[in-house]
Amino acid sequence: MANGEASNPLLRPLPSGVVPQDEVDRNEKRWVIIMLALLAVMMLIIVITAITHAMHPPSNVEPIDPVTLHLQGEFVESNLGTAGEGDGVTVRLVAQQFSFVPNCVKVPAATPVKIRITSADVVHGFILVDTNVNTMVVPGFVSEVRTSFASPGEYRMPCHEFCGLGHQGMYARVVVVEKDQFPKLTQEQRTDCVSPVSP
Ligand code: CUA
Repeated sequence: MANGEASNPLLRPLPSGVVPQDEVDRNEKRWVIIMLALLAVMMLIIVITAITHAMHPPSNVEPIDPVTLHLQGEFVESNLGTAGEGDGVTVRLVAQQFSFVPNCVKVPAATPVKIRITSADVVHGFILVDTNVNTMVVPGFVSEVRTSFASPGEYRMPCHEFCGLGHQGMYARVVVVEKDQFPKLTQEQRTDCVSPVSP
């Protein structure tokens, strides 16, 4: 019946410019397939990079034997602390359960500072509070961070990765001294934050 067809809203011809329902369905299905394909490609990239690129610290990949750390090479105790190198200084530290060795280092202000740190046992965290210096310390690797301090001050250096029952007591300090004062310090004074510094 002509009159009944016209009164059924589903059978009325669509006004021009309105996309029919079946075309909307087709388009939606097409975009779902494209989106799933994109997801699959991204997952594949993650899996492939995880397999081909071994896990390592975010700075440089520099392996070191944690067992012989104290016996030979760069991280023997006599070589730890701050040393002048080129235009800047290099700080060498060992993290171990539950301390940093040395537990205080002095560095000059307004000077490039390179910090090299490694672990003798488990994973520790190295952070200088109120700066953007922050890295994991993974046994078997040397972590390296570069920074500089504009003016003298003191920075706390708590271990920020749970490393065992003594974790909460594991912290050290970095003391920034005047640039012209630093060369006057002896090797011993550079890791001694208790005695006052003579001007
Ligand atoms: Cu070392 Cu927590």
